[in-house]
Amino acid sequence: MKSVPLKVVRNQEIAEETYEMILSGELVQEMNRPGTFLHIKIPSSHHVLRRPISIASVNQELGTCTLVYKCTGEGTRALTNVRPNDCLQVLGPLGGQGFPTEEPSTDQEVTLIGGGVGVPPMYFAARSLSERNIPFRVILGFQTEAAVFYEEAFKQLQAMDVTIMTDDGSYGEKGTVIDALQNLEQPSTYIYTCGPRGMLKAVKAAAQHDTTVYVSLEEHMGCGIGACFACVCKTEDETSYVKICTDGPVFQSNEVLL
Ligand code: FES
Repeated sequence: MKSVPLKVVRNQEIAEETYEMILSGELVQEMNRPGTFLHIKIPSSHHVLRRPISIASVNQELGTCTLVYKCTGEGTRALTNVRPNDCLQVLGPLGGQGFPTEEPSTDQEVTLIGGGVGVPPMYFAARSLSERNIPFRVILGFQTEAAVFYEEAFKQLQAMDVTIMTDDGSYGEKGTVIDALQNLEQPSTYIYTCGPRGMLKAVKAAAQHDTTVYVSLEEHMGCGIGACFACVCKTEDETSYVKICTDGPVFQSNEVLL
Protein backbone atom coordinates (compact mmCIF):
# COMPACT_ATOMS: atom_id res chain seq x y z
CA MET A 1 0.00 0.00 0.00
CA LYS A 2 1.40 3.39 -0.84
CA SER A 3 1.06 6.73 0.82
CA VAL A 4 -1.00 9.24 -1.16
CA PRO A 5 -1.66 12.95 -0.70
CA LEU A 6 -5.04 14.20 0.47
CA LYS A 7 -5.90 17.88 0.37
CA VAL A 8 -7.04 19.64 3.53
CA VAL A 9 -10.43 21.32 3.10
CA ARG A 10 -10.94 22.36 6.71
CA ASN A 11 -9.23 21.91 10.07
CA GLN A 12 -10.93 23.52 13.03
CA GLU A 13 -11.44 23.09 16.76
CA ILE A 14 -14.93 21.77 17.55
CA ALA A 15 -14.51 21.12 21.29
CA GLU A 16 -11.77 21.56 23.86
CA GLU A 17 -8.53 20.30 22.28
CA THR A 18 -10.64 18.39 19.74
CA TYR A 19 -10.30 19.13 16.01
CA GLU A 20 -12.34 18.20 12.97
CA MET A 21 -10.43 17.86 9.73
CA ILE A 22 -11.97 17.42 6.29
CA LEU A 23 -9.77 15.94 3.56
CA SER A 24 -10.43 15.40 -0.12
CA GLY A 25 -8.93 13.17 -2.77
CA GLU A 26 -9.40 9.98 -4.78
CA LEU A 27 -8.56 7.77 -1.82
CA VAL A 28 -11.94 8.69 -0.30
CA GLN A 29 -13.61 6.32 -2.80
CA GLU A 30 -12.07 3.41 -0.88
CA MET A 31 -13.40 4.55 2.51
CA ASN A 32 -16.61 2.66 3.06
CA ARG A 33 -16.27 0.70 6.30
CA PRO A 34 -16.97 2.29 9.70
CA GLY A 35 -14.20 1.52 12.16
CA THR A 36 -11.34 1.73 9.69
CA PHE A 37 -8.70 4.42 10.00
CA LEU A 38 -6.11 6.52 8.20
CA HIS A 39 -2.45 6.58 9.08
CA ILE A 40 -1.35 10.18 8.68
CA LYS A 41 2.17 11.48 8.36
CA ILE A 42 2.61 14.42 10.69
CA PRO A 43 3.77 17.41 8.59
CA SER A 44 6.85 18.17 10.66
CA SER A 45 10.47 17.12 10.34
CA HIS A 46 10.48 16.27 14.07
CA HIS A 47 7.94 13.48 13.67
CA VAL A 48 8.78 10.43 11.63
CA LEU A 49 5.92 8.29 12.87
CA ARG A 50 2.44 8.47 11.52
CA ARG A 51 -0.68 8.91 13.65
CA PRO A 52 -3.66 6.57 13.28
CA ILE A 53 -6.93 8.49 13.16
CA SER A 54 -10.39 6.92 12.77
CA ILE A 55 -12.64 7.98 9.93
CA ALA A 56 -15.66 9.86 11.33
CA SER A 57 -17.62 10.14 8.09
CA VAL A 58 -17.36 10.10 4.34
CA ASN A 59 -19.16 12.12 1.68
CA GLN A 60 -18.69 10.21 -1.58
CA GLU A 61 -20.51 12.86 -3.64
CA LEU A 62 -18.07 15.56 -2.56
CA GLY A 63 -15.12 13.16 -2.41
CA THR A 64 -14.35 14.14 1.19
CA CYS A 65 -13.78 12.36 4.48
CA THR A 66 -13.94 13.77 7.98
CA LEU A 67 -11.59 12.94 10.82
CA VAL A 68 -11.82 14.07 14.43
CA TYR A 69 -8.69 14.02 16.56
CA LYS A 70 -7.71 15.09 20.03
CA CYS A 71 -4.61 17.18 20.53
CA THR A 72 -2.71 14.98 22.97
CA GLY A 73 0.96 15.64 22.22
CA GLU A 74 3.46 17.28 19.92
CA GLY A 75 2.45 15.23 16.88
CA THR A 76 -1.23 16.06 17.00
CA ARG A 77 -0.34 19.65 17.97
CA ALA A 78 1.56 19.90 14.68
CA LEU A 79 -1.56 18.60 12.91
CA THR A 80 -3.62 21.48 14.32
CA ASN A 81 -1.42 23.90 12.35
CA VAL A 82 -2.40 22.41 9.00
CA ARG A 83 -4.40 24.84 6.84
CA PRO A 84 -6.86 24.49 3.92
CA ASN A 85 -5.13 23.52 0.64
CA ASP A 86 -2.19 21.93 2.49
CA CYS A 87 -1.62 18.28 1.59
CA LEU A 88 -1.15 15.40 4.04
CA GLN A 89 0.46 12.09 3.18
CA VAL A 90 -2.05 9.40 4.05
CA LEU A 91 -1.89 5.63 4.20
CA GLY A 92 -5.22 3.86 4.22
CA PRO A 93 -7.96 3.12 4.71
CA LEU A 94 -6.43 0.65 7.18
CA GLY A 95 -8.03 -2.04 9.30
CA GLY A 96 -9.01 -5.52 8.21
CA GLN A 97 -12.24 -5.50 10.17
CA GLY A 98 -14.58 -2.59 10.87
CA PHE A 99 -17.98 -2.44 12.57
CA PRO A 100 -20.26 -4.99 10.84
CA THR A 101 -23.14 -2.60 10.13
CA GLU A 102 -24.44 -5.02 7.51
CA GLU A 103 -25.08 -7.68 10.20
CA PRO A 104 -28.15 -6.34 12.09
CA SER A 105 -31.60 -6.60 10.54
CA THR A 106 -34.27 -3.90 10.75
CA ASP A 107 -36.05 -5.69 13.62
CA GLN A 108 -32.91 -5.62 15.77
CA GLU A 109 -31.45 -2.74 17.76
CA VAL A 110 -27.91 -1.50 18.08
CA THR A 111 -26.52 0.56 20.95
CA LEU A 112 -23.53 2.71 19.99
CA ILE A 113 -21.28 3.68 22.88
CA GLY A 114 -18.43 6.15 22.39
CA GLY A 115 -16.07 7.61 24.95
CA GLY A 116 -14.09 10.79 24.15
CA VAL A 117 -12.03 10.26 20.98
CA GLY A 118 -13.88 6.97 20.60
CA VAL A 119 -16.93 8.95 19.45
CA PRO A 120 -15.92 9.61 15.77
CA PRO A 121 -15.96 5.97 14.54
CA MET A 122 -19.36 5.56 16.23
CA TYR A 123 -20.63 8.42 14.09
CA PHE A 124 -19.51 6.65 10.91
CA ALA A 125 -21.25 3.49 12.17
CA ALA A 126 -24.40 5.48 12.98
CA ARG A 127 -24.53 6.89 9.45
CA SER A 128 -24.18 3.43 8.01
CA LEU A 129 -26.93 2.00 10.26
CA SER A 130 -29.17 4.97 9.48
CA GLU A 131 -28.79 4.39 5.73
CA ARG A 132 -29.92 0.77 6.28
CA ASN A 133 -32.85 1.79 8.54
CA ILE A 134 -31.46 -0.16 11.47
CA PRO A 135 -32.78 1.22 14.79
CA PHE A 136 -30.00 2.47 17.02
CA ARG A 137 -29.47 4.47 20.18
CA VAL A 138 -26.35 6.39 21.15
CA ILE A 139 -24.56 6.82 24.47
CA LEU A 140 -21.61 9.24 24.51
CA GLY A 141 -19.28 9.88 27.42
CA PHE A 142 -17.08 12.94 27.97
CA GLN A 143 -15.15 14.35 30.91
CA THR A 144 -16.88 17.71 30.89
CA GLU A 145 -19.18 20.00 28.88
CA ALA A 146 -16.30 21.65 27.01
CA ALA A 147 -15.29 18.28 25.53
CA VAL A 148 -18.75 17.41 24.10
CA PHE A 149 -19.10 17.21 20.31
CA TYR A 150 -21.37 15.67 17.63
CA GLU A 151 -24.51 15.48 19.84
CA GLU A 152 -26.58 17.29 17.22
CA ALA A 153 -25.01 15.32 14.37
CA PHE A 154 -26.12 12.02 15.93
CA LYS A 155 -29.62 13.42 16.55
CA GLN A 156 -29.93 14.35 12.89
CA LEU A 157 -29.40 10.71 11.96
CA GLN A 158 -32.71 9.86 13.64
CA ALA A 159 -31.17 7.92 16.50
CA MET A 160 -33.86 6.53 18.83
CA ASP A 161 -32.12 8.31 21.65
CA VAL A 162 -28.86 10.22 22.23
CA THR A 163 -27.63 10.23 25.83
CA ILE A 164 -24.68 12.39 26.86
CA MET A 165 -22.86 11.49 30.06
CA THR A 166 -20.21 13.71 31.66
CA ASP A 167 -17.92 12.75 34.52
CA ASP A 168 -18.57 16.02 36.34
CA GLY A 169 -22.25 16.39 35.44
CA SER A 170 -21.61 19.75 33.71
CA TYR A 171 -23.65 18.61 30.68
CA GLY A 172 -26.17 15.83 30.02
CA GLU A 173 -26.27 13.39 32.90
CA LYS A 174 -23.60 12.94 35.54
CA GLY A 175 -21.97 9.55 35.39
CA THR A 176 -20.42 7.14 32.93
CA VAL A 177 -21.60 5.45 29.77
CA ILE A 178 -21.90 2.28 31.88
CA ASP A 179 -24.49 3.99 34.11
CA ALA A 180 -26.48 4.85 30.99
CA LEU A 181 -26.12 1.33 29.60
CA GLN A 182 -27.39 -0.18 32.84
CA ASN A 183 -30.38 2.19 32.80
CA LEU A 184 -31.62 0.97 29.41
CA GLU A 185 -35.03 -0.63 29.72
CA GLN A 186 -34.41 -3.09 26.91
CA PRO A 187 -31.03 -4.61 26.08
CA SER A 188 -30.13 -4.30 22.41
CA THR A 189 -29.10 -7.13 20.10
CA TYR A 190 -25.75 -5.50 19.41
CA ILE A 191 -23.42 -3.05 21.09
CA TYR A 192 -20.72 -1.30 19.06
CA THR A 193 -18.24 0.62 21.17
CA CYS A 194 -15.00 2.58 21.00
CA GLY A 195 -13.12 4.40 23.74
CA PRO A 196 -10.53 3.83 26.46
CA ARG A 197 -9.67 0.17 27.15
CA GLY A 198 -11.15 0.33 30.69
CA MET A 199 -14.44 1.56 29.27
CA LEU A 200 -14.57 -1.25 26.71
CA LYS A 201 -13.94 -3.78 29.45
CA ALA A 202 -16.73 -2.30 31.58
CA VAL A 203 -19.14 -2.27 28.59
CA LYS A 204 -18.42 -5.94 27.98
CA ALA A 205 -19.01 -6.77 31.65
CA ALA A 206 -22.25 -4.76 31.81
CA ALA A 207 -23.75 -6.12 28.57
CA GLN A 208 -26.46 -8.76 28.74
CA HIS A 209 -25.18 -12.22 27.85
CA ASP A 210 -27.30 -12.40 24.69
CA THR A 211 -26.01 -9.06 23.39
CA THR A 212 -23.21 -9.29 20.82
CA VAL A 213 -20.56 -6.70 21.63
CA TYR A 214 -18.08 -5.36 19.09
CA VAL A 215 -15.19 -3.26 20.41
CA SER A 216 -12.81 -1.05 18.46
CA LEU A 217 -9.34 -1.10 19.99
CA GLU A 218 -7.10 1.92 19.83
CA GLU A 219 -3.43 1.30 20.24
CA HIS A 220 -0.10 2.91 19.53
CA MET A 221 0.75 1.89 16.01
CA GLY A 222 3.90 1.63 14.00
CA CYS A 223 3.56 0.52 10.43
CA GLY A 224 -0.25 0.18 10.38
CA ILE A 225 -0.01 -2.64 7.85
CA GLY A 226 0.84 -5.72 9.91
CA ALA A 227 4.63 -5.68 9.60
CA CYS A 228 6.04 -4.38 12.89
CA PHE A 229 4.06 -6.04 15.75
CA ALA A 230 3.72 -2.70 17.58
CA CYS A 231 -0.03 -3.13 17.97
CA VAL A 232 -0.43 -6.74 19.13
CA CYS A 233 -3.08 -7.68 21.67
CA LYS A 234 -3.63 -11.02 23.41
CA THR A 235 -6.60 -13.16 22.50
CA GLU A 236 -9.09 -13.73 25.32
CA ASP A 237 -7.81 -17.26 25.97
CA GLU A 238 -4.27 -15.80 26.10
CA THR A 239 -2.94 -18.46 23.74
CA SER A 240 -2.08 -16.15 20.84
CA TYR A 241 -2.01 -12.59 19.61
CA VAL A 242 -3.90 -10.49 17.11
CA LYS A 243 -2.66 -7.40 15.31
CA ILE A 244 -5.01 -4.51 15.85
CA CYS A 245 -4.04 -2.81 12.59
CA THR A 246 -4.80 -5.72 10.28
CA ASP A 247 -6.97 -8.20 12.27
CA GLY A 248 -9.04 -5.34 13.75
CA PRO A 249 -9.34 -2.67 14.88
CA VAL A 250 -12.86 -4.01 15.54
CA PHE A 251 -13.22 -7.35 17.31
CA GLN A 252 -16.03 -9.24 18.96
CA SER A 253 -15.47 -8.64 22.68
CA ASN A 254 -14.85 -12.35 23.36
CA GLU A 255 -12.03 -12.48 20.79
CA VAL A 256 -9.54 -10.29 22.65
CA LEU A 257 -8.25 -9.79 26.17
CA LEU A 258 -9.46 -6.36 27.25
FE1 FES B 1 2.73 -2.60 12.76
FE2 FES B 1 0.24 -3.24 13.59
S1 FES B 1 1.20 -1.31 13.62
S2 FES B 1 1.83 -4.57 12.95
